[in-house]
Amino acid sequence: MLMDKLHAVLQRNESFLSTHIQALPTTSSKLKEAMEYSVLNGGKRVRPFLIYSVGEMLGADASDLDRAAAAIECIHAFSLIHDDLPAMDDDALRRGKPTCHIAFGEATAILAGDALQTEAFALLADNTKSTLPAEQVVKMVQTLAQASGYRGMCGGQALDVEATNIEEKLSLEALEQIHKNKTGALIVAAVQLGALCAPKVSQQDFLALTQWAEFIGHAYQVHDDILDITGDTEALGKVQGADLNLEKSTYPSLLGLEQAIATRDALVEKALQALSTIAYNTELLQEFTQYLINRDR
Ligand code: IPE
Ligand code: IPE
Ligand code: MG
Ligand code: MG
Ligand code: MG
Repeated sequence: MLMDKLHAVLQRNESFLSTHIQALPTTSSKLKEAMEYSVLNGGKRVRPFLIYSVGEMLGADASDLDRAAAAIECIHAFSLIHDDLPAMDDDALRRGKPTCHIAFGEATAILAGDALQTEAFALLADNTKSTLPAEQVVKMVQTLAQASGYRGMCGGQALDVEATNIEEKLSLEALEQIHKNKTGALIVAAVQLGALCAPKVSQQDFLALTQWAEFIGHAYQVHDDILDITGDTEALGKVQGADLNLEKSTYPSLLGLEQAIATRDALVEKALQALSTIAYNTELLQEFTQYLINRDR
């Protein structure tokens, strides 16, 4: 069930984004090409999956979910383009292909990130297409903006950069703070956007879903850190050992591989507990929670 749904989400999201970007005016065909290259190149579509599965569980309209899922994937692609830049992780391989700055040059890569970020909000705020009340749309824009910027992904990336190549070991709390911001915030936003697309959701269910998302968001990055050690370049589509080479602060570097795995598994247990309090059929979400720690890329 899960694999079919992940595949369906991937296709729907790719096709929506492809049509959307193609329809943009050709101000710069190079920039447009770099945007397409970075957003239509085989990502797993985990965040869109969260939007669709949570939204559908709660009875949301499909077209609202399409735009929200496309918006968060644009933000995610922007975060990866900038994450790979020489000034950040300096990576040459992403999703099995040269990173955006290797393929198009740094200036175009920076701009493709910027343009994808702003396009995300153009998509989300398009009131002419939304079936939702304007105040709900504003809430969604606010949710995505907070999760993407200083209070979320960008803040976490800043802490990540500050924690790279340093003499002293980070505290576990500091590393948790990095992971929750750089990766967790967008995962939480995906779940919340799915819920905000629904006509109605109880405060209690919204909070339980948020809690589930916080645990899986944290576990997601811990597993990403683990894959840097246990994965292989071909399956990952990114260079195995890149964190080690940069002396990144990661869960395995701080705790050792075994403890990192134990931490990840404990987070998954907590996530499943949070899910068990929700008054809907959460089977798909449970399956997804397990998939998170079994994936090899
Ligand atoms: C990679 O994200 C970076 C993290 C935030 C862990 P994904 O694992 O979602 O990457 P894609 O989109 O599937 O390539
Ligand atoms: C990325 O973390 C988090 C982002 C916000 C992009 P990583 O730097 O570990 O992601 P990968 O391993 O390059 O995909
Ligand atoms: Mg990074
Ligand atoms: Mg990186
Ligand atoms: Mg990583």
